Amino acid sequence: MDCSKQVVYQIYPKSFQDTTGNGRGDLNGITSHLDYLQDLGITMIWFNPIFPSPQKDNGYDVSNYTAINPDYGTMDDFETLVREAGKRGIGIMLDMVFNHTSTEHEWFQKALAGNRKYKDYYIWKKGKDGHLPTNWPSKFGGPAWQYVEKFDEYCLHLFDPTQADLNLANPDVRNELVNVLKFWIEKGVKGFRFDVVNLIDKMAFEDAPEGSEGKEFYTDGPKVNDYLHQLHVEALGNADVLTVGEMSATSVEKCSGYSKPENEELSMCFNFHHLKVDYKDKQKWTLMPFDFQELKDLFFEWDVKMEEEGGWNALFWNCHDQPRALSRFGDPVHYPKESAKMLVSVIFTRRGTPYFLYGDEIGMTNLNSRSVADYDDVESHNAADMLKHEQHKSDDEILAILQAKSRDNGRTPMQWTNGTNGGFTSGQPWLRLNDNLETVNAESVLQEEDSIYDYYKKLIALKKTNPILQHGTTRTLLQTDKNLYAYVRELDSEEILCVHNFFGHPAPLSLDLHEYERILSNYSDFDPDALALRPYESLILKKKN
Ligand code: GLC
Repeated sequence: MDCSKQVVYQIYPKSFQDTTGNGRGDLNGITSHLDYLQDLGITMIWFNPIFPSPQKDNGYDVSNYTAINPDYGTMDDFETLVREAGKRGIGIMLDMVFNHTSTEHEWFQKALAGNRKYKDYYIWKKGKDGHLPTNWPSKFGGPAWQYVEKFDEYCLHLFDPTQADLNLANPDVRNELVNVLKFWIEKGVKGFRFDVVNLIDKMAFEDAPEGSEGKEFYTDGPKVNDYLHQLHVEALGNADVLTVGEMSATSVEKCSGYSKPENEELSMCFNFHHLKVDYKDKQKWTLMPFDFQELKDLFFEWDVKMEEEGGWNALFWNCHDQPRALSRFGDPVHYPKESAKMLVSVIFTRRGTPYFLYGDEIGMTNLNSRSVADYDDVESHNAADMLKHEQHKSDDEILAILQAKSRDNGRTPMQWTNGTNGGFTSGQPWLRLNDNLETVNAESVLQEEDSIYDYYKKLIALKKTNPILQHGTTRTLLQTDKNLYAYVRELDSEEILCVHNFFGHPAPLSLDLHEYERILSNYSDFDPDALALRPYESLILKKKN
């Protein structure tokens, strides 16, 4: 599948549309909005996991890879959704969590019952002189090992204790995963996102040295390439599917390797470096304005190197693990439209496949929570405990940090109307909706002139049809400018110039714009004589012939 023409829309199924009144979204709810998505112009929908799961980590704890969580509907509902989406030119991308399963998965239950075959599907180690096998912390807090008395052994879980890491070194496990992919390909699925897939090769079980969390022992191991290649050869390669790997703490070298077509591994990779530019001392649960220079340096590095090495980027600001970019990098109070449009222009004009999250197209923002109890996410609660007990933060400080950083900011129910629960559910929503649904809701936004939604539509149409934005090389400009992020995309001596002001004040401009004409911008007029860009102004210009 040609990655350069795809535009992916991410749906958090629990939060899109409830049709049963249980407060949680479902597949029929998604089907009911396919016309809306077709109108927007997207080509693919990525769903977070919709498989049976105890929901300790909202579906990333899968207990059966080849069934539908009854909360979301039935297999018939899923098949209807695939068919109806297909009629509208939209493919379905599923989220495959192959690094770990829920401890409720049949495989783990058989392992616990003493079945040797299944025990070897997971990673077990003896303790070391009365200590844990290694000192690695889990990514959700606490140690990465769970003691199982029956075996007098510890089981590895890089995430929650109920998410046991699979042992992909075991060929039987890899065969199971190949079969899972084949199952969904037969159902007409057109894409797969692979969760934390660069963690599937545990290279060594050694203690992390001081200052490290042990990631070097289980991140980007050489066998990740082999395992991905096997999935490609045995399942993915013969189907016309799009694949994206979510990469944790990775490098541009590794991602170009995973995504260059000749290696036959993945179509593209997500990396998160650009979403750590507001981490104080590299710590997530802190408050700090974003470092604009670092952000630009990362974009420049990834765009240019991926291109040089023939890799392909998945481009995004938002997903279900991140606060909303409009609250984080924009200004939803003073410049909601301008900053939302500027931010999405960045994603659509770089080299790679754009992804955005449900609700971005209407300007949804972070949750205005009132207390820690408003959050559902396991990571957020663990963080609140850590901030209280280890860092002795006050309740107000903890709330401010969660308001800025919690993953639930990107998971709140879709705001369809300004009616009860934003038209999301007639029941009790599983997660609080944002109070701003009075004005920020699809029904109202679609009636506005120059809406964020309209701008998304224009950008999507542009990306799907413009070869320069699809394939052009990238030349960076104004590398150290304090306000502006600028680059040129070039193809066959044609040029598109993109300039974005990342701030709420005018930004002096030293580029001569006279040779350019406007393709798209987020203010109603374009003046090539302007000496500055206006707050959050974004220009996409074509060089005149
Ligand atoms: C990925 C998912 C995240 C999940 C984690 C463990 O990072 O995006 O939501 O908690 O993997 O599966």
